[in-house]
Amino acid sequence: MAVKFEWNEIYELGIPEIDLQHKKLISISNELYDVATKGDVNLKITMSKILKNLTDYTVYHFTSEEEFMKKYGYQGAPMHKIAHDNFVAEVTQQIKNLSEGSQEDVLLFYDYIANWILAHIAKADKIWATFVKEKM
Ligand SMILES: [Fe+2]
Repeated sequence: MAVKFEWNEIYELGIPEIDLQHKKLISISNELYDVATKGDVNLKITMSKILKNLTDYTVYHFTSEEEFMKKYGYQGAPMHKIAHDNFVAEVTQQIKNLSEGSQEDVLLFYDYIANWILAHIAKADKIWATFVKEKM
């Protein structure tokens, strides 16, 4: 059984715009968890709306981060963008497979994305944010 993740201030990077986006990303992910655990009469429709929202918001958020890195001349930007692109590709693939998936599959997907996002924030994002904050 997947555990529901809650936003915690330890994930804050100190760049308010990005912190808000991270919070929102976890919040959209948690909508998925809620729908999968509560059960919903319109489960498939609700789920596809959330998944679309999640994908769109992830792409929007990654673009914001990449603009920050570019603006402040962060040298690790190309490598960081590869990590973003790989995640988007993986998520897109997994969502395709979910159309026939069970509730358990949705929760496994949730577990994957929430873990990825939080680990990414704590490691890769922390590095560029520390660099950028010194230049802001
Ligand atoms: Fe990132």
